[in-house]
Amino acid sequence: MAWGVLESYREFLPVGEDTPMITLGEGNTPLVRSYRLAEEIGCPELYFKLEGCNPTGSFKDRGMVLAVAKAMEAGSRGIICASTGNTSASAAAYGARVGLPATVLVPQGDIAFGKLAQTQAHGARILAIDGNFDKALSLVRTITERQPLTLVNSVNRVRLEGQKTAAFEIVDRLQDAPDLLCIPVGNAGNITSYWKGFNEYKAAGKSQSLPRMMGFQAQGAAPLVEGRPVASPETVASAIRIGSPASWQGAINARDESGGAIDSVTDEEIMDAYRLLSTGEGIFCEPASAASVAGIIKLHQQGMDLRNRRVVCVITGSGLKDPELAVSVISTGVKEVSSDLEEVEAALLEFAA
Ligand code: F0G
Repeated sequence: MAWGVLESYREFLPVGEDTPMITLGEGNTPLVRSYRLAEEIGCPELYFKLEGCNPTGSFKDRGMVLAVAKAMEAGSRGIICASTGNTSASAAAYGARVGLPATVLVPQGDIAFGKLAQTQAHGARILAIDGNFDKALSLVRTITERQPLTLVNSVNRVRLEGQKTAAFEIVDRLQDAPDLLCIPVGNAGNITSYWKGFNEYKAAGKSQSLPRMMGFQAQGAAPLVEGRPVASPETVASAIRIGSPASWQGAINARDESGGAIDSVTDEEIMDAYRLLSTGEGIFCEPASAASVAGIIKLHQQGMDLRNRRVVCVITGSGLKDPELAVSVISTGVKEVSSDLEEVEAALLEFAA
């Protein structure tokens, strides 16, 4: 058994003799079958790919491990990224792991607290800008043209190479590609990576088929659906609050070449899926991740017959990133009682009533 994605998928990645084979144990995430939603939408073969089980709680670690390894190989003196929170947490962790200083630009007041806490815990330098993610990305692109820092956003194509390993794992587990791959879309790097991964694996004879790529954006931040950038993207799903995706063309290619679609889901649909996953499937994800599940529910509601389809929804990040949101929308409440047996028992009976 190999350690981490660099070793596991070495032959498919741009790693050579001089690439340090670093890892924090990323990849090899669970693919779990749905019990409840599968029944509700008549799709017996529905799976969730739990990317929140990566070391920093999101899929970003797959690409970050390779981006940081390549930065080390090139003798970089530091890494930098713009982020809605997960990329920054991942960059901070891998930077700390190998002793490369990480600097991150995030939209002020607009990222989940857990992500900010992780980024700080790993000792990154954080600049909270008075602007959104798109502005932060444009700033770091310019800065890396002037400063000797390595850009580790997905405009660094090496990130996409690492992220495609999730598609490999799905095929390895199912022995073929699924019929539909549902995935949230923000900056559009991940959908681009998965499509690349599925194609490379098929070319290597590891699968017989390719999935239809079904991307889902939040309705208030859906530039790919509207066909033009959105100046002020708004959605409860802060991770995908992005108006001008860097991998725009990659997402369009994945959609068109696979015969798939990119559609939007409302914040209400996202939060319904978020609740259904946590209370009905035991899967605690962040709102952006629930967009993929909101998407398959929408396809079902539009009349798509899913009976004989094998579907994978990518659950991109952990719900622990944003605990305040969870308790504000789902909380069953916390009842305070004394430690007296009778009082505790009386409270139990009240619950049961
Ligand atoms: N889901 C989560 C949890 C994310 O953090 C992101 C992106 C996406 C989905 C969308 O993926 O950008 O490849 O289309 N987060 C980035 C960040 C932008 O900075 O952490 P994408």
